[in-house]
Amino acid sequence: MSVFKVCSKVLTVYFVSLFFADLHAQSAANPYLPSLMPDRIILNVTADPSTSMAVNWRTSELVTESFAEIAVASADPRFTDEVKRIKAKSEKLEWEDTPTATYHSLVFDNLTPNTKYAYRVGQGDQWSEWIHFNTAGKTGSKFSFIYHGDVQTNIRSMWSRVVRDAYAKAPDAVLMMYAGDLINKANRDVEWGDWFEAGGFIHSMIPGFPTPGNHDHYDGPNGKNTTSVFWRPQFTLPENGPAGLEETCYYSDIQGMRFISLNSDQAEESDEYLEKQRIWMEKVLKDNPNKWTCVTFHHPIYSPKSTRDNKRMRETFKPLFDKYKVDLVLQGHDHTYARGMAKIPMQQKGAVSPTMYVVSVSGPKMTASNVEKATWMDRSALYTQLYHVITVDNDLLEFKAYTATGELYDAFDLVKQKGKINKVIDKIPQNVPEKR
Ligand SMILES: [Fe+2]
Repeated sequence: MSVFKVCSKVLTVYFVSLFFADLHAQSAANPYLPSLMPDRIILNVTADPSTSMAVNWRTSELVTESFAEIAVASADPRFTDEVKRIKAKSEKLEWEDTPTATYHSLVFDNLTPNTKYAYRVGQGDQWSEWIHFNTAGKTGSKFSFIYHGDVQTNIRSMWSRVVRDAYAKAPDAVLMMYAGDLINKANRDVEWGDWFEAGGFIHSMIPGFPTPGNHDHYDGPNGKNTTSVFWRPQFTLPENGPAGLEETCYYSDIQGMRFISLNSDQAEESDEYLEKQRIWMEKVLKDNPNKWTCVTFHHPIYSPKSTRDNKRMRETFKPLFDKYKVDLVLQGHDHTYARGMAKIPMQQKGAVSPTMYVVSVSGPKMTASNVEKATWMDRSALYTQLYHVITVDNDLLEFKAYTATGELYDAFDLVKQKGKINKVIDKIPQNVPEKR
């Protein structure tokens, strides 16, 4: 063998071992490296999920073109003969030491309401399994949705049990809502990997309705508060919010309920974004043909924590919630559970609030700084991982809070009354003491 050949062999071995050493080091630090096979598959709501549905997925950067296929689902496996193939919008995400990946997204449109579809995503010989979802039904028909407070920490190890129990209780939920702080460090890929791993196939079957919290934001260029670099590539949410807050401030109408997401972190940090959202919120509440309205954001209007008070949010939005009789406000941030309505005054006339305010937590990060139960709370809990199933049937809304172990912890009904605020029927389970 010539000296040249020996040298080139040695160099080849050296570079190949470097490549594998690098791969090994990367996967040791991040077990969620992207590959040719799609992962992080997630459905998201559109403005009208009765006729459209959004989907996102991730691959390695080697994939520059990916597709989704969709058909009406059938037990006859030959449904695959009828598929429609759609090319995704694909964007490369390069961020500091995160493994570079391609994020793919598209919106299935012209769907039939109240119909089960089967879809898969991929390219070449790398495809996901066939996954089912249901389009929303018509206005007024009964439906359920799931609400989670902060997920944030120990996501794979401790939140997985919550999301799985929630799915077992309400597998046909029209959406899964997240009241912010989905993860702890906005741009840490491994935490998003944990979030997708914990929810697994549930993310790909029930559309997500996430609102960002403070931990989903970071200090961007020039110190400007910015939503995670992963947010827009990995979610496709309605772009019907104010300019500059696309996909974080938005709304969706489902079966007679208007679901609204506010970006409270941007509202807390910027006068401009607070005012933009106030103007937008008034319009969205005023021109609302739905019987029910549910608003979600991260920083609570009433805090269960004695050390916290989100005065800006309360002074800006509560007058609108009072005026337009918002039914339900679902929030996070305080790592504890509390809900109340009866003892909250309506800002203008001293009358009783038309809105039920709820704060909750689904992950294991807990707070102990609210040992004293605040007067606004009708039911509360400390050190309890929870999820919530809300069912709406015409004039009746049933709210159920379940612990991570599936026990009913709190419940109430809201009943629509003509010309009056909702009647509240407390259904706190008798044999379950308040966890304080
Ligand atoms: Fe928070």
